[in-house]
Amino acid sequence: MGGNVLRVLIVEDSASDAELMVRALRQAGFEPDHHRVETAAAMRAALDGQAWDVVLSDYSLPGFDAMGALALLRDAAPDVPFIVVSGSVGEDTAVAAMQAGAADYVMKDRLQRLASAVTRAIEGAVGRRERRRLEEQLAHSQRMEAVGRLAGGIAHDFNNVLTAVLGSIELLLLDEPPGRPHREELDIIRDAATRAKDLIRQLLAFSARQVLQPAVVDLNRLVRDVAKMLRRLIGEDIKLETLLAPELGAVRVDAGQMEQVLVNLAVNARDAMPEGGRLTIKTDNVDAGGSQVLLHVSDSGVGMDEEVQAHLFEPFFTTKPRGKGSGLGLATVYGIVRQSGGHIAVDSAPGRGATFRVYLPRVEAPLDPTDRPRPVTAPAAGSETILLVEDEHLVRLLARKVLERAGYRVLVAAGGAEALDLAERYAGTIHLLLTDVVMPGMNGRELMRRLAPLRPDLRVLYMSGYADEAVAQHGVLDPGTAFLQKPFTPGGLADKVRGVLDTLTA
Ligand SMILES: Nc1ncnc2c1ncn2[C@@H]1O[C@H](COP(=O)(O)OP(=O)(O)OP(=O)(O)O)[C@@H](O)[C@H]1O
Ligand SMILES: [Mg+2]
Repeated sequence: MGGNVLRVLIVEDSASDAELMVRALRQAGFEPDHHRVETAAAMRAALDGQAWDVVLSDYSLPGFDAMGALALLRDAAPDVPFIVVSGSVGEDTAVAAMQAGAADYVMKDRLQRLASAVTRAIEGAVGRRERRRLEEQLAHSQRMEAVGRLAGGIAHDFNNVLTAVLGSIELLLLDEPPGRPHREELDIIRDAATRAKDLIRQLLAFSARQVLQPAVVDLNRLVRDVAKMLRRLIGEDIKLETLLAPELGAVRVDAGQMEQVLVNLAVNARDAMPEGGRLTIKTDNVDAGGSQVLLHVSDSGVGMDEEVQAHLFEPFFTTKPRGKGSGLGLATVYGIVRQSGGHIAVDSAPGRGATFRVYLPRVEAPLDPTDRPRPVTAPAAGSETILLVEDEHLVRLLARKVLERAGYRVLVAAGGAEALDLAERYAGTIHLLLTDVVMPGMNGRELMRRLAPLRPDLRVLYMSGYADEAVAQHGVLDPGTAFLQKPFTPGGLADKVRGVLDTLTA
């Protein structure tokens, strides 16, 4: 729309009266682009054909009237203002029209009032639209929050169930070498339970209940590292382009989770471009409303209509055939971004590709050293003494068995009070406290706080299935806190324990 162009639909049987309205608008500085209709059918066609800024309607026409026109308009375009322009028909009629939703009422012999009535009506409509947009936004975020709580609750309970299932299988497998009867079935159970665990992990991510281990990172470097893997992932028909802003601000994120964000967005882009196309990853500094770093992932694929965009981030929303998509990719992205203090927006239209923008708060702190996990050469084992505290019987059994097989001396307690008691009576050195976080009575952190004065050299490894306030504020761990996600595998536990014992600073 250029200058003051005003798209006016006029419901009027008199061409000359319509011309007078147009002239009045033109005199007030508008450039009316107008169309006149006399019947309901013609009006319907006009409303279907294009968008209008305002409708001006005579009060009664042969075979049609303002009330009918108003009803049609409310159906087709509820936001477009409607003004009755009529000869004098009396106050009652004017009031009835306003009550039915007309924005104003202008007499034909006072058309000099028309332009200001139109201006006011359009301003009112803009305000209403804006208000509705905000209401929709609020409803959307409330819906996401409710779904998030539901998903988080389910994930939490399932996580405990899966810890027991996977733990039992792992225990059985320790005694069941390949070739023994039932070994094949055990492998099948383990694979199925592992798949379930992956699903639950994504739900936890969506509900922002994962335990993140954030570090100050250079997003450009992260993108560069992941790009190599993405090229393999998207295939040769899709061209990957990276445009990385020089002097990009640093962000505090969990690098592994951020990689997951990029991978999920790239896989979606790939699926949206079955005939090939272009995937662009861009980084930028933005300074609107606080300093942020923008990650921009766009594709030249099939795009999405508004209906899809409205549900995009909900868990299990997918347009892909059964078995192809779980609908958890973007839910995961959403949760990770939110939990990292950022937000995500999408811009797309059918046939026009899609652009996802991830905004992350910029931090001024120096980059953390990127500690690649050290390659595990020897089997992780040792002879130190470990105090194991876990209220869940099965998990306790599993951890104890794994650690004893690795050569450690293991002291076992089922809760905080018992652990304190044990530590007071035990004469030797205790090198490591391996404790569940969420336990009835005394939680893991509290236990460590009480043990620290008794055993100043004690190191601690926390384990939990779920980001609870007892684990970490908003699921974000203090730097330097060692943490093991449940359910864990025997190998995962042994590696983590060895790693914590080997770090130089406790
Ligand atoms: N880049 C894109 N272009 C077009 N549509 C997209 C794009 N990204 C997502 N979508 C739409 O959003 C839906 C949800 O995406 P999401 O990643 O959450 O689930 P999925 O890809 O269907 O399944 P999953 O990622 O769990 O395998 C998709 O099914 C698709 O309709
Ligand atoms: Mg996906």
